[in-house]
Amino acid sequence: MTNFDAKESNILITGGAGYIGSHVVKQLLEKSKSRITIIDNLSTGSQKNLDTLFDISEGRLTFIKADLKDFEYVNEIFIKHRFDTVIHFAASIVVPESVENPIKYYMNNTVNTTNLIKSSVEHGVGKFIFSSTAAVYGEPKNLPDDGIDEEYPTSPINPYGMSKLMSERVLIDTAMANSSFKYVILRYFNVAGADANDENSSCSIPSPRIGQSFPNATHLIKIAAECAVGKRSKMFIFGDDYPTPDGTGIRDYIHVDDLAYAHVKAIEYLDSNESDIFNVGYGKGYSVKDVISTMKRVTNKDFIVKLAPRRLGDPAKLIANNRKIKRKMNWYPKYEDLEFICKTAYEWEKKLG
Ligand SMILES: NC(=O)c1ccc[n+]([C@@H]2O[C@H](COP(=O)([O-])OP(=O)(O)OC[C@H]3O[C@@H](n4cnc5c(N)ncnc54)[C@H](O)[C@@H]3O)[C@@H](O)[C@H]2O)c1
Repeated sequence: MTNFDAKESNILITGGAGYIGSHVVKQLLEKSKSRITIIDNLSTGSQKNLDTLFDISEGRLTFIKADLKDFEYVNEIFIKHRFDTVIHFAASIVVPESVENPIKYYMNNTVNTTNLIKSSVEHGVGKFIFSSTAAVYGEPKNLPDDGIDEEYPTSPINPYGMSKLMSERVLIDTAMANSSFKYVILRYFNVAGADANDENSSCSIPSPRIGQSFPNATHLIKIAAECAVGKRSKMFIFGDDYPTPDGTGIRDYIHVDDLAYAHVKAIEYLDSNESDIFNVGYGKGYSVKDVISTMKRVTNKDFIVKLAPRRLGDPAKLIANNRKIKRKMNWYPKYEDLEFICKTAYEWEKKLG
């Protein structure tokens, strides 16, 4: 528990019915006395997640089905609710789609974010937490041994990453011009797993209440979990000739509840600190082959894995340097274990049916 426990903030969470947003709503309901309003158009968000959140909300949760592109309505919501904090998850997030349809990404991710920032400033919101991504670093050359830190040059290689970087810029410039408006930008690495549900589960078999529900996900651990429960007949490894020990790409997989906790800490951080940018990951990586063999081992299920050519723009290795968030926010992860991440993803996938 943190100092934040006693606080009674009034928080707007966009995209709170989605994968990561729902875990943050859950933690804020459980760890604080905050009142929370979710705006979500349910394009990829889940009613099932919302139902669970209402069950634990003790009347402190409001859901407004709306699209952020409806600027007038969004403004009315700000007038009515007088938020002190905004946590902004709502976005389009599929990289290949962003290459095919960049306008969708710049409209939803950059234009709608700019309007949300505008409403926030106009209505006296003091704290804005923004979901950014390691995709802003593009395809890092000469990856440092201890991972990518926040000073690493940004150079997105697809419209998704660029739409997020442009939103970061809008936030930074807006905060420079408005001293009462502060932000934390969190650059997530590879988010995975589902609700750890500490209080109700034994260590060996987690029992997630919420998770990633949208079909056709592109995340490796989700896909491996779908194979393990039999929803997919096979999966692919894209490239096994990278300069890594087993030839497959290495990524920094962070459990979604550890990531969610970074948002709780970010709100607390902005009480007495200035705006800042933080990478959120574990600072260590696993290869695609590690992930697949771990999923097979912890679920005791075998499934077909095929080799496919490398995908354009997939770097060999992407690891966060997380020293800054640990030092400045005192954020420490709890679920840094690939087996546990895979188990929660698998149990959630079974529950989804
Ligand atoms: N999942 C990851 O691994 C990852 C990694 C880096 C960054 N991120 C960022 O985290 C955030 C959340 O991602 P997620 O994985 O939870 O995705 P998600 O698709 O599960 O959640 C996004 C939510 O936003 C809603 N939404 C989208 N556009 C909207 C709009 N115009 N108006 C209202 N609601 C809208 C969707 O219905 C959904 O509930 C995104 O901003 C994403 O860029 C995710």
